[in-house]
Amino acid sequence: MKKMLTGLQPSGVITLGNYLGAIKKMVENQEKYDSYIFIADLHAITVTQDPVELRKNIKNLIALYLACGIDPNKNKIYIQSENEYHANVSWLLECNTYYGELSRMTQFKDKSLKHTNFSAGLLTYPVLMAADILIYDVDIVPVGKDQKQHLELARDIAIRFNKKYGETFKIPEPVISFDGNEFLVKDLQNPSIKMSKSSENKKGVIMLLEDADSIRKKIMSATTDSEMSVHFDPKNKPGISNLIHIYSSITNKTYDEIKDEFKGKNYGEFKKCVADEVIRVVSEIQEKYNKIINSDEIDKILDEGRDYTRKIAKEKYELLKEKMGLGR
Ligand code: TYM
Repeated sequence: MKKMLTGLQPSGVITLGNYLGAIKKMVENQEKYDSYIFIADLHAITVTQDPVELRKNIKNLIALYLACGIDPNKNKIYIQSENEYHANVSWLLECNTYYGELSRMTQFKDKSLKHTNFSAGLLTYPVLMAADILIYDVDIVPVGKDQKQHLELARDIAIRFNKKYGETFKIPEPVISFDGNEFLVKDLQNPSIKMSKSSENKKGVIMLLEDADSIRKKIMSATTDSEMSVHFDPKNKPGISNLIHIYSSITNKTYDEIKDEFKGKNYGEFKKCVADEVIRVVSEIQEKYNKIINSDEIDKILDEGRDYTRKIAKEKYELLKEKMGLGR
């Protein structure tokens, strides 16, 4: 059975973009693959975190995974830092990655420009991601388009390592979309940027644990255009295209079907339907989340995930050490 893996940072705020870009794809395909989903807490500490908040966010994200429909019987669910081999393998891979490759990463360039003093971890972040993936000989990695460059680097690292030390890693495929659509969920107020928890204007960002009224207000006041035609054209109609993409991702309707459905209707009517759909999905998730958050189930699931993945990761780490001539 082919393997599928993804991870999310426990950033406290999980957005509709995170859900549609990664979690939903995992849920829809969890039957077909041997599936791994983890909490990327080691990635979170590349920027400053409050330890108490971070621990709370980790637990909340696990509950959110389950509430979104990630099935613990069909997925290995674990916390990255509880499997120490991720960081160990990352170091070995770092020594097979060039500074030039890392400093060229768009996310690094963006984030490092925002701060004068940033951690070395912000630079080496994609190598840890490569380790997360390559340890398990993963076939496919569902992520949003913003992570595609990092996955390409993971492929390059794997290919280089295989050439240098002999066949060691499977070469993973990024899966931005199972149907070939690579559109990122955009900010509702500024559709030229992705919807992101770090956006300054929170009016443009929908959070999975947000209340219905607030979601409706945000969608109803989303930026559109003066054309009054619901069709997908991200270049000329970024706001409407973003809403169409959201509606399509949730309902599984094609852009053309949506265009037909809203022919002759105004943007207000369209936005109301988008809001209804988003609220329907988000309310279902919230209802489950509230039941799960205080259950003992979570610890059991995490123990199992940790023990299972640690075994695989240890074997890979030992293999790498042997190939690289480390230890005795
Ligand atoms: P993170 O936590 O920033 O985002 C989690 C996932 O959500 C996707 N995403 C989006 N998709 C569509 N539209 C958006 N607006 C949007 N915003 C975020 C991201 O592409 C991602 O798939 N480094 C990763 C976590 C990670 C990982 C990995 C992922 C660590 N190791 C190995 C895959 C494989 C990150 O910080 O994602």
